Amino acid sequence: MTISAKGISVLESAASVCVLTGAGISAESGVPTFRGKEGLWSKFKPEELANFRAFINNPDLVWEWYTYRKNVMKDVKPNPAHLALAEMERIVEDFTLVTQNVDNLHQRGGSRNVYELHGNIERSYCIDCRRPEQNVMLDEQGKAPRCKSCGGLIRPDVVWFGELLPYETFQMGAAAAARCDLFLLIGTSGIVYPAASLPLVARDHGAYVLEVNQEYTDLSSRVSETIVGKAGVIVPEMLASMKNTRKRGTNSE
Ligand code: OAD
Repeated sequence: MTISAKGISVLESAASVCVLTGAGISAESGVPTFRGKEGLWSKFKPEELANFRAFINNPDLVWEWYTYRKNVMKDVKPNPAHLALAEMERIVEDFTLVTQNVDNLHQRGGSRNVYELHGNIERSYCIDCRRPEQNVMLDEQGKAPRCKSCGGLIRPDVVWFGELLPYETFQMGAAAAARCDLFLLIGTSGIVYPAASLPLVARDHGAYVLEVNQEYTDLSSRVSETIVGKAGVIVPEMLASMKNTRKRGTNSE
């Protein structure tokens, strides 16, 4: 599906752009999404793995799941959609990238300013003394990692179900959504709130909301336009539209 003439004109002219990404943007890199036929939640139960109670009841099992995901993410590379967003950051005056992903692929693709709503799987911390840790996994005996300084349990620095999002990060994302001319909603099912409220904030403040997804979502009826297709194809096309006019603008000065 191609971008409409109106969509292209907003891409060409927007001075303030806010983006929200979800697991779908990393699917073409080989990171499984959560929902859908091949999604992680079809094989694993979120209530057994992605909440604090589950972690306290069975930290070894939760760490087995995160060790598996860390190993998947270690070997994957940013795809053309991540790279295109990194370039947008360099050419758009006011650009904000908000992500629900914990895979670090935006940063590895060259994005400098990334607002992570759900944390980052590469970071961990001790639940007792809060000491941060990098690159910890299950130990050789299959036991959850322990803090080197106090012996407390270490948890992944991600947001689990029932936990609050990092307040300031969310506020920065909401402020960017409220002031942007163009909001890009990329590769998310749009059913996990409060992240899914950001495109609605943008819409309510008059922004054009462009969704990119391989299928229609719960938010599709509430956005300005949905482009059905792969993020790795569509996002570079969006970048090309942005670059066109910005080059013309520079030449005419
Ligand atoms: P989901 O797995 O819910 O949705 C992924 C979306 O990406 C779906 O709508 C797919 O149709 C779409 N998609 C898949 N491949 C695509 C591609 N190549 N191009 C474009 N779109 C594609 O993932 P999220 O919306 O990120 O939270 O899930 C939101 C949150 O729910 C996650 O951050 C996680 C999860 O439970 C926590 O763990 C707190």
